[in-house]
Amino acid sequence: MTFADLNLIDPLLRALEMLAYQTPTPVQAQAIPAALAGRDLLAAAQTGTGKTAAFALPALQNPANEETSVGPGDVRVLVLVPTRELAEQVFNSFCDYGHFLPLRGLVAYGGVSIGPQLKYLRNGTDLLVATPGRLLDLYQQRAFHFDEVRTLVLDEADRMLDLGFARELDAVFAALRHPHQTLLFSATFSADIRSLAGRLLHAPLQIDASPRNTAVSSVKQSLVTVDKKRKTELFCHLLKKHRWEQVLYLSAPKGCRHLLETLEYQGFPADASHGDKPQHIRQRALDRFKQGEISILVATDVAARGLDIDELPLVVNFDLPSVAEDYVHRIGRTGRAGASGVALSLVCADEAPMLRAIEQLIQQTIRRSEERGFSPEHRVPQTAPEGQQSKPAKRPSSSAKTGRAAAHGAKKAANPGRSKARSGGKASAAGQRKAKKNPTDRH
Ligand SMILES: Nc1ncnc2c1ncn2[C@@H]1O[C@H](COP(=O)(O)OP(=O)(O)OP(=O)(O)O)[C@@H](O)[C@H]1O
Ligand SMILES: [Mg+2]
Repeated sequence: MTFADLNLIDPLLRALEMLAYQTPTPVQAQAIPAALAGRDLLAAAQTGTGKTAAFALPALQNPANEETSVGPGDVRVLVLVPTRELAEQVFNSFCDYGHFLPLRGLVAYGGVSIGPQLKYLRNGTDLLVATPGRLLDLYQQRAFHFDEVRTLVLDEADRMLDLGFARELDAVFAALRHPHQTLLFSATFSADIRSLAGRLLHAPLQIDASPRNTAVSSVKQSLVTVDKKRKTELFCHLLKKHRWEQVLYLSAPKGCRHLLETLEYQGFPADASHGDKPQHIRQRALDRFKQGEISILVATDVAARGLDIDELPLVVNFDLPSVAEDYVHRIGRTGRAGASGVALSLVCADEAPMLRAIEQLIQQTIRRSEERGFSPEHRVPQTAPEGQQSKPAKRPSSSAKTGRAAAHGAKKAANPGRSKARSGGKASAAGQRKAKKNPTDRH
């Protein structure tokens, strides 16, 4: 199959040729024709398998076929993502794929001045890629309206629909006109999120381009068991021993700060990216890492999802993430687009329940080892054999009230302030707790 077989218009085919994309990936082959036909989609495919083009190409083709140009405050395609760096990356992908199309587009996220974003949006845009918090700020300041949104894309849709973004997503769904097309994409969808999505979408086509919630096989996974207090020491030892050239090191915020100080003290070329840093510093750290100016990027889960770092060879998990699905996304920063990669996790005894939940999710036992001189005093128990495992903890899903039903009469409920009330005190409070646990960019 070729991209031409998918009925894409000539300017998009020319852009794909320029990017040297020869054949569509499985998720692209399944999603593009259905999205072009106007279907709602819930599409799951492993990390690094081209989901961005799978939603961006049809999302660009539909407005390109519109005869009228956008009016003041109009937005035709709205793409929501959980972090600022991902917003930047997804917008750049839209620019690449839409290179030969005369469309207007904007990326909007917090941590940078809102003024230029307000000004741009007031003239209307074909495409808006945004993080949810900044989107609502712009909406409340009447920079744009939802009336002309024909396509809504949620990238990393399971994260977008979990409680952390409930307030923002409730407001968006309440304000959208009916009907519109909704495209949900992620490498992981829990059963709860699938059922919530079922209520949000209209007769969706469900695409599973690979077995559900699995890690991509091009990533060689392993773990080293070690005592908690010796993880930083072990990492520095492994760095010296293996002379790793490029490593993305993922950790909770506290571990990030401590490790960066240690690495800087020992003279390793490292930088850090986490939610406490100003946005331009965060983006600069990522750019320097991508360009090979620094060999170690220490980051929180703000770097766990969606980021596409060309041929990144190694991801190290300082600690296991607090949500099993995030493990799949974290290790998916390597082994992308057919390349191979390595993912190594440093695991201590306290993390045994999380390890069990991860191994259950990915239906794989991760190869374990010990490093000489670092044998743990506290052993990490083996995961129980199949059938004897306890169930992994259930994740909370978004407000049950969110949904297309709620979107009826949208005009009346289009005030995000009301939507907050609609989410209910309980859901909002839980949302805030969740948002703290999962580093994402509300703004
Ligand atoms: N058909 C294709 N041919 C060649 N390369 C492609 C093709 N589609 C996508 N790619 C490249 O594959 C890489 C991964 O794509 P993308 O970032 O869209 O993956 P993803 O499925 O969204 O991953 P994640 O789940 O981590 O977000 C990118 O560098 C992209 O340019
Ligand atoms: Mg992606």
